[in-house]
Amino acid sequence: PVTVYDNQDIASKKVAQRIATLIKAKQEAGEKAILGLATGATPVGVYAELIRMHKEEGLSFSNVVTFNLDEYFPMKPNAAQSYVTFMNEQLFNHIDIKKENINIPDGTLAENDVAAFCLEYERKISAYGGLDFQLLGIGRTGHIGFNEPGSAPNSGTRLVTLDDLTRRDASRDFGGKENVPTKAITMGVGTIFKAREIILMAWNQKKASIIKKAVEGEISSDVPATFLQLSDHVEFILDKEAASELT
Ligand code: F6R
Repeated sequence: PVTVYDNQDIASKKVAQRIATLIKAKQEAGEKAILGLATGATPVGVYAELIRMHKEEGLSFSNVVTFNLDEYFPMKPNAAQSYVTFMNEQLFNHIDIKKENINIPDGTLAENDVAAFCLEYERKISAYGGLDFQLLGIGRTGHIGFNEPGSAPNSGTRLVTLDDLTRRDASRDFGGKENVPTKAITMGVGTIFKAREIILMAWNQKKASIIKKAVEGEISSDVPATFLQLSDHVEFILDKEAASELT
């Protein structure tokens, strides 16, 4: 299903409420909530609302385990552009999540060690019983995570090469496209697909054409987000601008 809200602030609050409801239900059951998280501009409002709920309403993240979708490769965790830095600044530094419950792909590995790390990332998600929830943005290439065009529907966590458009879109953060890493470690389409609930969010006019392809286009690895059409537990949450080309 597709849900369109007037603006991204309202939409972000709704998504944050859904996440908070899941966390509380798991707390009451004495269980952990296993969340797949995204970086980038899109989820910032969701994280801000979760922080507000923590500070003002006592929402606790003590039972929350997180797996981030991706990280640039190579990337030092303390670099300004790392997804570790992003997550710390936008969410983790402001809530009571346990450090040992945070998982983000490791951008510091030797390339030879990446395959084993990726298998272990998958194993760890499975050992927790799988992802209860996965939050997604979408890139203008149609990527989810960093699953660029050509990604297989059953792909797992792996090292990938970033699309030129993705590197151009990231160039502002890095002070030029030439400084954007050419690779990344990402959960696969298959990893994402196994989550019990998936929300893909998109805001602004610049996402309208890729949202049309993702939601209404032919299912194809040319636009990896189209694979989400095959799932019955995916919801696309859009603002009016991102939804403006849907028929
Ligand atoms: C981020 C990620 C990417 C972004 C996508 C959109 O962890 O996996 O797929 O969600 O590139 O980025 P923004 O939100 O910056 O437009």
